[in-house]
Amino acid sequence: MNFKDQIDKNSLPKHVAIIMDGNGRWAKQRGRLRVFGHENGVTAVRNTVEAAAEISVNYLTLYAFSTENWSRPKREVDALMSLLVKSLNKETSTLNKNNIRLQAIGDLKSLQSKTYKELLKAIDNTKQNTGTTLNLALSYSSRWEITKMVKKIAEKVKNNELSSEDINDEVISNHLTTTNIPDPELLIRTSGEQRISNFLLWQIAYSELYFSPKLWPDFGKEDFYEAIVDFQGRERRFGKTSEQIK
Ligand code: FPP
Repeated sequence: MNFKDQIDKNSLPKHVAIIMDGNGRWAKQRGRLRVFGHENGVTAVRNTVEAAAEISVNYLTLYAFSTENWSRPKREVDALMSLLVKSLNKETSTLNKNNIRLQAIGDLKSLQSKTYKELLKAIDNTKQNTGTTLNLALSYSSRWEITKMVKKIAEKVKNNELSSEDINDEVISNHLTTTNIPDPELLIRTSGEQRISNFLLWQIAYSELYFSPKLWPDFGKEDFYEAIVDFQGRERRFGKTSEQIK
């Protein structure tokens, strides 16, 4: 039986986050430039988004470009930015056909202006969709986000809009870029690396972690479904004992 058929539709994760890793190694194995890996990574993005939409996962967050990625060679950064523009432009109609809404988190204004404009256009063109939300993390890092959150809360305390006594988990969550998005129950990382790399540090407090050995361009629908089946086989205790949650 394939993995898709083994999924229990009644206990799907509402939010799956993915650290897409291994494009560079995939290209190197083929004696090609890193950009070739990113180009083929777009196919894996398409397959994964389609896979999530087919089983109605509510939110899919993809770590597409980190704050740290700005330090890569300019040629690679430029190629990634134009790949993003090209993909957004090309895929908006497919997103609409599949009722997928696009959103983005990160320091979006730091993106190259063409990328930023194309992104806003795609977000606007898909805002009416009610199915899966595809959330792209772009120029994103968790420490950047947490620093921003602390500054916002500090400003509110300074202006007497908020008392420091009232700061709690919920207030913090509401000042992160993921406001209104439930925390991911499942975090997938490809390429065999087992790190979090500054991604959604607050939000993954109770996420199940799944590491796939596949390099991102090779990650397909069945790999995504395999991760969901694995997730559904886990016991999530949230700090309680096994007996308490039964
Ligand atoms: C990690 O592989 C991948 C990235 C930093 C970029 C991911 C981008 C894409 C898949 C293409 C565009 C995205 C969208 C949403 C259309 P790596 O370069 O770190 O690989 P390595 O670890 O093997 O060097």
